[in-house]
Amino acid sequence: MMMTSSPLFQPVRLGALELPHRVLMAPLTRSRSAQPGNAPHALNAEYYAQRAGAGLIISEATQISPEGQGYAWTPGIHSAEQIEGWRGVTRAVHAKGGRIFLQLWHVGRVSHPLLQPHRGLPVAPSAIAPSGTAFVVDETGAPAFVPFVTPRALETHEIPRIVADFAQAAAHARAAGFDGVEIHSANGYLLDQFLNSSANHRTDAYGGSIENRARLTFEVLQAVSRVFGPGRVGVRFSPFGRFMDMGDSNPLALYAHIAERLNDLDLAYAHVVDPAIIGNETAGPIALGAALLQQFRATYRGKMVLAGGFDRAKAEEAIGSGLADAIAFGRSFLANPDLPERLRANAPLNAPNKATFYGGGAEGYTDYPAMAG
Ligand SMILES: Cc1cc2nc3c(=O)[nH]c(=O)nc-3n(C[C@H](O)[C@H](O)[C@H](O)COP(=O)(O)O)c2cc1C
Repeated sequence: MMMTSSPLFQPVRLGALELPHRVLMAPLTRSRSAQPGNAPHALNAEYYAQRAGAGLIISEATQISPEGQGYAWTPGIHSAEQIEGWRGVTRAVHAKGGRIFLQLWHVGRVSHPLLQPHRGLPVAPSAIAPSGTAFVVDETGAPAFVPFVTPRALETHEIPRIVADFAQAAAHARAAGFDGVEIHSANGYLLDQFLNSSANHRTDAYGGSIENRARLTFEVLQAVSRVFGPGRVGVRFSPFGRFMDMGDSNPLALYAHIAERLNDLDLAYAHVVDPAIIGNETAGPIALGAALLQQFRATYRGKMVLAGGFDRAKAEEAIGSGLADAIAFGRSFLANPDLPERLRANAPLNAPNKATFYGGGAEGYTDYPAMAG
């Protein structure tokens, strides 16, 4: 057996971190924080500790502020109770020899007054509602799906406050013991809304040109990097993603600019959700998706993480061909706490149960079995 020659199991340095292998845990929202207060608790620490064998765990998306929340029961990192809860998670992961980044999230327009402070309108680059429904907690405390509302466009003078909220959340993450943070600039949330011409109709310095639409993501990356220092900040993008009504007039040009500008920052990695294999969440033609990834890889000189639909063979190919330095696994890590060991041994995988993805307790969360023996 030549198992150790797999490129997936070669060590890699991502910024300030030395990883023993390249199987990362992708960020996965599980909506199981303690209520009220959206604070992580012992069950969440157990879940992450079970997955501490990951090269790096990227946590579920975590709201930087009350305004940044868009779904029922997702955790935050803006209150003392939440910081304390996350401290329990990082301690449990570190005790098992793991490494963990916190994914920092502001959902922008993907929210609802029922989740907002003072029942206010969600904020966005422009007053354009996404189609579909928000998953909220209603006045009686029960979960409910309600149509999205038209958000309020952020005033230019409010944008420094958003940047400051990200920086404050990063400071909290540091205090809670995280090894770094990943900035969520993907999947149709606030930073992605600014990037995409379909959601950003602004006429100030944060809209219009590609440079202007990318400005907020870069301001956030700079501010958060100042908090965490070099090599401890990652960023996630989803070019061609159509989730939450995203769409850009020229993704190749947008991401050419982004990849080039990222070279000015000393990040741990850039994390790209593969546009070709994200499934029906993208309308981008597969050929263009591959071209975009290759262009990104050729332009960005830092480390690159890919995610979306990977199994062992595809992951080995992506790393072996030089397209990626590490692979983040989502649903397969959700269902297999010992995923790296299973991939190393080419062992069968547990299947994820969609019915228990969001909300609930231990079922479908901490009860997926590890390999026998
Ligand atoms: C239950 C679930 C929750 C997710 N939550 C997040 C999240 O919080 N942040 C994020 O960036 N992506 C999130 N994603 C996307 C995953 O990180 C990943 O990109 C996607 O599942 C594709 O990878 P996979 O094919 O390995 O599952 C989520 C996906 C699933 C299935």
